Amino acid sequence: MKVNEIYLGNTFELINQIESDSIDLIICDGPYGVTANDWDKVPDIQTYNLELIKLFSRILKPGGALYLFGKDNCIDFIDYRPYLNINRKIIWFQPSRLAQGRLNYTNNYDLIAYFSKGKAKTYNLDDIRVAQLVELEHRLRCEKVPSVTNGQFGKTKFNDDGKNPGDVWGDIKQLTYKSKELISRDLLNTIQKPEKLIERIIKASSNEGDTVLDPFSGVGTTYAVCKKLKRNFIGFEINPKYIEITKERIHKIELEQEYSLFK
Ligand SMILES: C[S@@+](CC[C@H](N)C(=O)[O-])C[C@H]1O[C@@H](n2cnc3c(N)ncnc32)[C@H](O)[C@@H]1O
Repeated sequence: MKVNEIYLGNTFELINQIESDSIDLIICDGPYGVTANDWDKVPDIQTYNLELIKLFSRILKPGGALYLFGKDNCIDFIDYRPYLNINRKIIWFQPSRLAQGRLNYTNNYDLIAYFSKGKAKTYNLDDIRVAQLVELEHRLRCEKVPSVTNGQFGKTKFNDDGKNPGDVWGDIKQLTYKSKELISRDLLNTIQKPEKLIERIIKASSNEGDTVLDPFSGVGTTYAVCKKLKRNFIGFEINPKYIEITKERIHKIELEQEYSLFK
C-alpha cells in the first residue's frame, strides 16, 4: 500500500493489503461502543478490540507500537498477550466532562492502551517532556535525598527540560466549541481528537520517516500531525465525507509549509 494516502473502505478488509512487519506505529481511535453513531454500534467492544489486536500484530514491525483508544473497560477480560505486550494503560483525564451520573461515579477519562510487538523499539522521552512544577526549595531538598533505582542508590535528579508526562494525561484538553482546530461543530465529542494528544504519541513512539497507520482516520488528525512531524501516513476511513475533509485539511497544511519555505 502506498504511504501518504487515505483509503476508503472497511478497516477489516483493507488491512489485509498491508504487508506483514511493515508499520512502526498504529493509532487506533475506532469505535468505543457507547455513542449513537452507526459506526460506533458494536455488539461487544472487547471482542472487537481483540480482533483488531490480532490483525495489528501481523502488520507491526517487531518493536512497533499500538495505541488503542476506548472507554475504561475496552480491553477487560480479553487475552491480548499472545499477540502484543501491554506497556502502559494511559488515562486521558478530562476533568471538565459533564458530571451527569446519578447512580454511579461519572467516568472522567478515556483509556489509551499502549502496546508493542515485543519490546518497544522507540520511546523518545526527550521529545515529550512536560514542565516540572516544583518549588526550588523542595527541589534542593529532594536532590539531597538518595533515590533507589534497580537496587542502586543514586541522587534524585531533576531534568531542566521537564519530566516524563506519566500515565495520567490531564494537561491535554478535549476540543470544545471554542477550539480553533475544531473542523465542524457537528463533529464535537464524537470524532475529532486534539492534535496535541496525537502529537505526544507520534513523537514518543516514532521517528521521522517512520510509517504510521490510522485505521479509523476520521477527519485526519493523525494525518495532519504526521505531515507536520515528517512521518509517513496510511489511513483507512469508511465515510467518504471525512476523507474529503481530511484532504482539505492536509492541503492547507501543505500550503502553509510551502509558504513558510519562502518567508
Ligand atoms: C472516533 S472517529 C476517529 C477520529 C479521528 N481520530 C480524528 O481525530 O479525526 C472513528 C472513525 O472510524 C470510522 N470507522 C468506523 N468503523 C470503521 C471501519 N470498520 N472501517 C473504517 N472506518 C471506520 C468512522 O467513520 C469514524 O470516522
